[in-house]
Amino acid sequence: MSVKKRESPKSKSGSPRKKRERTRRQIACNLLTMFLVFLRTILDWAIDFVFSFLYEEQKFQLPPVENELLLQSATSIAGKIKNKEISCEEVVRLFIQRIELVNFKINAVVDNRFPEAIEEAKVIDKQIVNNEIDFSKKPFLGVPFTSKESTAALGQNFSIGSLKRKHEKAKEDAYIVERLKSAGAILLGVTNVPELCLWSETRNMVFGQTNNPYNLSRTVGGSSGGEAAIVTACGSPLGLGTDIGGSCRMPGFYCGVYGYKLTTGCINTRGMGFRNGKEPKTMVSGGPIVKHAEDMLPFIKCIVIPEKLPLLKLDRKHDLKQLKVFYIEQPGDLKVSSVNGEMIGAIRKCVRALDEITVVPAEKLENIKQFEKSYDLWRYWMSKEPGNYASALVNNEGEACWWLETIKVFLGVSQHTLPAIMKLIDTQLPLPKDQWAQDETDKLKKKLTDLLADDGVLIFPPCPTPATYHYTTFFRPYNFAYWAIFNVLGFPVVSVPVGLSKDGLPLGVQIVTSTNNDKLCIDVANYLEKQSVIGWEPPFRRN
Ligand SMILES: *[C@@H]1O[C@H](CO)[C@@H](O)[C@H](O)[C@H]1NC(C)=O
Ligand SMILES: *[C@@H]1O[C@H](CO)[C@@H](O)[C@H](O)[C@H]1NC(C)=O
Repeated sequence: MSVKKRESPKSKSGSPRKKRERTRRQIACNLLTMFLVFLRTILDWAIDFVFSFLYEEQKFQLPPVENELLLQSATSIAGKIKNKEISCEEVVRLFIQRIELVNFKINAVVDNRFPEAIEEAKVIDKQIVNNEIDFSKKPFLGVPFTSKESTAALGQNFSIGSLKRKHEKAKEDAYIVERLKSAGAILLGVTNVPELCLWSETRNMVFGQTNNPYNLSRTVGGSSGGEAAIVTACGSPLGLGTDIGGSCRMPGFYCGVYGYKLTTGCINTRGMGFRNGKEPKTMVSGGPIVKHAEDMLPFIKCIVIPEKLPLLKLDRKHDLKQLKVFYIEQPGDLKVSSVNGEMIGAIRKCVRALDEITVVPAEKLENIKQFEKSYDLWRYWMSKEPGNYASALVNNEGEACWWLETIKVFLGVSQHTLPAIMKLIDTQLPLPKDQWAQDETDKLKKKLTDLLADDGVLIFPPCPTPATYHYTTFFRPYNFAYWAIFNVLGFPVVSVPVGLSKDGLPLGVQIVTSTNNDKLCIDVANYLEKQSVIGWEPPFRRN
């Protein structure tokens, strides 16, 4: 826009003529925005229309579970093992059978340790019979779990979806894997991720593409795409995710399960991709991907660094009547498609349910202008992450050259996926100004911290629409920004499932609290699930 920006301080309150001019400028701006949003909506519709022809034949549905145990929470399975209602070996075998039944369609699990898991289960069964177990130290004793292929798990594939690392196996467990194992959980295998975990679809040159269990034509999101897919398909009761730009929450949302991101800084990052756990400040965090809200609290108690536990006040009890509820329907980043009607419906449903019990009425927040720059802020802070992307792309053996790689992609001879190259090109482009990005981040953090304090939640859209067709994310590369903005802030967030859309795809919302208020976040999710406002709905017929 060629409008003059600078004005002398005096003209601020200015003459009527100046005021009129400002109003006119404002109206012109609003009209332009409306026009852009309209254009964008038409384009989005056209993309989906074209892709729907490619996928209309896709009628496959996952088979129902043969055993009800597969539907249950990890907490209740742990209880049954403890009370000797079922043996650990039976549990492990049931989940292995389920993986074997569904995986060829969804391609979620990319390496496994089934024989070892069964042996470990047998040992646990013996120990239980002989009363050798201190259950207080083993909250998930005998419960199977899965983890991302990009998170080191001793002896499992560790390619991070990169062809250069095709034959790499992990030589030790990542910190968070180690912690879950020491809580008694049994690792079944590792699951698919995008190349270097940096894309909103789970597809790479090593293992191919993961498909959405609700409809194989749709994406599972990324980067914990394999995790969310196998959890909702009932092949694993506990998924261990990591999250730097929505990686737990996005696949959680697309696959109709809970995807949780802990307050940043509460886990050790050793073994998460190339990280050694000693990096300074980072946006990366992690958390559970599970079908049932009750599993989140015990799960995070297992993986948080013990010294950080007191910070999170996980034993605090919240009186939800005193809760302050805030919500946003359209955060307004113009790079992101508009949030659609069904998604707004999900937000309103959650807000209404909370409004019924709280003393203070829910408040809709508008015009928080930093949310309009969600993507730019995340991109800025991504550039401050440790590591060099161009070298990571070639497994730290030299550096990838962006223009050479771009040519190779278009000639179809590249070793990399297109998103990986897009990211490489992106590292060449100018960044937002330091001062601007840091100021805006501080302002947003302060505003929300003051607003939410210790007793407020923000209900926020996860993204504009339910899971879209494979490959359509290339046309909407910024649509993950409403997840990513909370990595910028470091707040705890959970993406929760709120029923299915008219196309049978999961809807959802994000529940956000301020730093270290993870317990409140989880309490609200548990409450809404108990009221049947939110909750997992299986991607197959119930028997
Ligand atoms: C999957 O999506 C396609 C295209 O939208 C649709 O025609 C098909 O009925 C869906 N399949 C299922 C199982 O819902
Ligand atoms: C991943 O693990 C499986 C099973 O151990 C193995 O057969 C396969 O070759 C591995 N994949 C790659 C690309 O190394």
